Formats: sequence, C-alpha cells, structure tokens
Amino acid sequence: MTDTALDPSTLARELSRRWDLQQTGYIRHRAERFATIARVVGTLTEGIERPRVLDLAGGTGSLGHAVLAAVPRASLVVADKDPALVAIASDIAAADPRIEVADVDLGRSGWHEHPLLAEQHFDAIVSSTALHWLQPAHLVEVYWRAADLLAPGGILLNGDHLSYDEHLEPTLRRVAAADDERMQAETFAGSADTWDEWWAAVSAEPRYSHHVARREEVWGDDIRVAPPKVTLEFHLSTLRSAGFTETGTVWRYLDDHVLYGIR
Ligand SMILES: C[S@@+](CC[C@H](N)C(=O)[O-])C[C@H]1O[C@@H](n2cnc3c(N)ncnc32)[C@H](O)[C@@H]1O
Repeated sequence: MTDTALDPSTLARELSRRWDLQQTGYIRHRAERFATIARVVGTLTEGIERPRVLDLAGGTGSLGHAVLAAVPRASLVVADKDPALVAIASDIAAADPRIEVADVDLGRSGWHEHPLLAEQHFDAIVSSTALHWLQPAHLVEVYWRAADLLAPGGILLNGDHLSYDEHLEPTLRRVAAADDERMQAETFAGSADTWDEWWAAVSAEPRYSHHVARREEVWGDDIRVAPPKVTLEFHLSTLRSAGFTETGTVWRYLDDHVLYGIR
C-alpha cells in the first residue's frame, strides 16, 4: 500500500506514474509515441484559443496529460470504462479544472451520447494501446462516431501495436516479438510493476479496492478474450469510410504505429 497520508489526487498521480512505468515495459517507445502525438496536436491547434481534446480509452489519462503538458491551454476529456482506471483518472481530474472524465464503454452503441462528449466538437481525439481491445465491428463504430465528434479539420491520432501478419510477414513478426521480450525483461528486472503487480497495488488501496472488485462485473469475458487483430489498412480504410479526408501514419517503430485521420 502507498503512503496512506497521501491526498486522493496525489495517490492517483502516484498510481498513474507507476502505470506509465508498467506500460513502458510493454511499449519500448511509449514516451516518444506520446510526445509525437502531443506535438502534432500542438501544431494543428495553434490558432485555437482553447483546444478540446478527447483521450479515448484513456485509462488513467496518461496520453491526455501528455497532450495537456504540450498544450496547457487545452481542455481534456478522458473516456474509459474500467471502474478502477476511471476512479484514478477522476481523482487526478478533481485537482485540475481542465480535465473531465467520462465513464463510457466504447463497445456499446450510444457511447458518444455521453453528455461530456455529445455537446462539444473536439479538435483532437487521441488514443493509445487501447483500440485493439475492441471487436473490429466496434472499432468501425468508434471511428464513425469519432468522425461525428470532431470539429471540421480536427485530427484523430491512434497509437497502438498492429501486429505483423504471421503468414505474410513472419520474419518481422519474430523480430518484433523478440524486441518486446527484451524490453519486458529489461523493464521488469528493475523497479517497474508488471501488469499483475500494478493491479495488486491498486487493489491494496482502500480508496480503489471496491473499484477493482467491480472490474469482473463490468468487463465480463472481454477481460480475457482478445479480439481478432486488424491491419493498418483496415484502420485507414475505416477512417476514410467514416469521412476522414486524409489518413496515414505519423510515426512507426516495428509494429508500433501512430496512425491519423483528418476530419
Ligand atoms: C492498456 S490500457 C491503455 C490506457 C491508456 N490509453 C494508456 O495508454 O495508458 C487499455 C485501455 O483501454 C480501455 N478500454 C478497453 N476497452 C474499452 C471499451 N470498450 N470502452 C472503454 N475503454 C476501453 C481499458 O479500460 C484501458 O484503460
């Protein structure tokens, strides 16, 4: 358990910091991915007085916070369905008037009607290491709804692993898997929590233990079953079909991509 004297927002920020270390074990260039997304949002929103940013499946809000660090005048909505991550993100938001948190399940239709989402046009929608959790049909729906939520000229940026095809790209698939393994061995030999250790730490916090206990009920089997993988071309053609006028890749390292669409 962390120091019990910590106020909720400090405790939440500490758990979010540990989350970032843990996630970096699985994504070698996570910080570079975030910095790239933040810089692109910064450049595209230069003329906008108070850019509105949505972090989709944002977890504790790490990517959105990175965007706020680069664009301090922006406002941010972090949207996620996990009760514990939403609770931590909300405690961080309580100490920062620029941030709001929407409890939404992107796998359910109507998610975009949440009051924090429906009533504004976002200048940027960002996401990281998350949309691969969605069934392809839900990913299509999310991109279509994201197109509705963006202001004209707004950008969607999604950073995620898009695995190499085991039949068409077996060599690079092996290289990427070996690289992931090396990174995990290096990171988790140090002080970073593994995924399971991080969740055990959150569970041990009285403030969050009941939220962790609700995860099974909220997630059901989706917490165990990985959806089928889709390709970069699937993402880009879906964005085009949703009305994005320009699509492509902003950054890439092996199978780790940041793809974009301009509304
Ligand atoms: C690996 S975490 C990444 C979190 C954050 N984007 C980051 O990079 O630190 C995956 C996130 O996707 C969220 N997620 C997965 N499926 C979701 C869904 N159907 N609706 C909302 N959030 C979802 C999870 O709750 C989790 O926060």
